[in-house]
Amino acid sequence: MNSPHRIGVVVGSNRPIRICKQIAQWVLGIAQNGSALGYELVDLAEIALPFLDEPAIPALGNYQHEHTRRWSALVRSFDGFVFVLPQYNWGDPAVLKNALDFLYDEWSGKPAALVTFGTRGGLRAAEQLKIVLQGLHMRNTATNPALNTRPDMLDEAARFIDIGAAFAPFAPAVRQMCGELAALLADPVASGEALQ
Ligand SMILES: Cc1cc2nc3c(=O)[nH]c(=O)nc-3n(C[C@H](O)[C@H](O)[C@H](O)COP(=O)(O)O)c2cc1C
Repeated sequence: MNSPHRIGVVVGSNRPIRICKQIAQWVLGIAQNGSALGYELVDLAEIALPFLDEPAIPALGNYQHEHTRRWSALVRSFDGFVFVLPQYNWGDPAVLKNALDFLYDEWSGKPAALVTFGTRGGLRAAEQLKIVLQGLHMRNTATNPALNTRPDMLDEAARFIDIGAAFAPFAPAVRQMCGELAALLADPVASGEALQ
């Protein structure tokens, strides 16, 4: 069944060997279970945007490049987003900030949830991204799970040995976040804070 609402689960890192995609897939599995919303992975490594190369500021929507028009159409096709990202040096991965900066109206007003990860949950990355999303007039959920990662969760190929077990304590928060995302979608004028 096709859901009337599509939610993009953005894979917010693009290193050749990375754990973000596995975590995004785990989030998607929990989010999709029993949900009327249609969650889809949006992998920034596959989108492969260059560094922002539009001559005009994105807020004007006057895009010169085909890669920007493709990214614009994809982002427009989603009703909301879950951004899954690691913390890089107390901040956000450049690939994600770049992908956000490429567009403007396409993000505006849409609900956004964050799932960060790092040894201490990636809270500093979350704080920075929340401000950027405010600048883009997105509506952030009140719950934004911050997952603690440890090296012993991974095998030698950087695959999670048992991702379900590793992050089981965070699954209720992911479900709570998805409920808040659905509530924001159902009420187009509510801010995330109003639903806290
Ligand atoms: C450039 C870079 C900066 C990092 N900075 C942090 C950090 O500030 N805090 C933290 O807990 N982990 C940090 N790490 C470790 C990451 O959490 C870990 O490498 C994780 O696998 C990154 O996600 P990825 O594999 O999807 O790129 C950093 C890793 C990289 C590559």
